[in-house]
Amino acid sequence: MSASMPGDGRFELVVAAKERVAEAVVRVVLTRPDGVALPVWTPGAHIDLILAGQLVRQYSLCGDPADDGRWEIGVLHEPDGRGGSRHVHQVLDVGDQVTASAPRNNFQLVPAPEYLFLAGGIGITPILPMVHAAQAAGATWRLVYGGRRHASMAFLDRLAQYGSRVTIHPEDIHGQLDLASLLDIPRPDVAVYCCGPEGLLAAVESRCSVWPAGSLHVERFQPRSAGADDIAGTGTAVALSEFDVVLAQSGRTVRVPTSLSVLEALEAAGVDVLSSCREGVCGTCETGVIEGEPDHRDSILTEEERAASDLMMVCVSRSRTPKLVLDL
Ligand code: FES
Repeated sequence: MSASMPGDGRFELVVAAKERVAEAVVRVVLTRPDGVALPVWTPGAHIDLILAGQLVRQYSLCGDPADDGRWEIGVLHEPDGRGGSRHVHQVLDVGDQVTASAPRNNFQLVPAPEYLFLAGGIGITPILPMVHAAQAAGATWRLVYGGRRHASMAFLDRLAQYGSRVTIHPEDIHGQLDLASLLDIPRPDVAVYCCGPEGLLAAVESRCSVWPAGSLHVERFQPRSAGADDIAGTGTAVALSEFDVVLAQSGRTVRVPTSLSVLEALEAAGVDVLSSCREGVCGTCETGVIEGEPDHRDSILTEEERAASDLMMVCVSRSRTPKLVLDL
């Protein structure tokens, strides 16, 4: 995986603390060595960490957004992963330098009369600052937090202060989350926020399909599972293997062949587009669409955002029309 970010969008940080907070989960605290304040962020934001000079991984910020002196992340060790979590767990140490991007938020906490937060495993990390914010705002909210075992569930100590608002649901004792009782009756005033493994996200998306549009907000750090790409169902046009992108600001046209993504075709033509994950999960390459209908293949946009056809992730999404005019 490669990364492309402007120099001023990166921060050289130092690992100020690293501690185990559950089975296979470490909490890492990052600070700036020069003591200069870090950019502010909002609940749901994530940063890219560039590890070992080339592994780019996204981690939700789970500390206090008002603390501009440090960023905190929680990292689950995934032995079968692609090496990012292994590096954090086995190599990264206190005092080490890492490079990070500015915070980006694809999982904004929108104003709502009531919130239902659903977290699975390490998916608790973006939810933590959300429940703190909901509590501080005096909102009505509930969190249901599932995990494999009690010992594998991180940050339980931080949640203890909220008493009965939080339901801790270790699967080895209680079985799987009872999503039917939580979601089968749509509640128009409730905003549902979910982060966790793909199985949980897909099940929640399925059950919320009968809820009012915009009720459900999810965050993925892995691409949406195969077969879910057509979730938008926004058009009758068929995805095209080859098409043109027109750059509105210069009028240039770039042909996108079957073998390249839009991002790769633009890069090959010498056009600079920011990118990071290159698999449709981080939002860095989000690009405005002025004309044409994208074939959305990302794991970020909601059904409503996909239907609007005014944004696309050029690292994975393609076109349903012979021409896309992009705001580039
Ligand atoms: Fe991450 Fe495109 S680079 S969504």
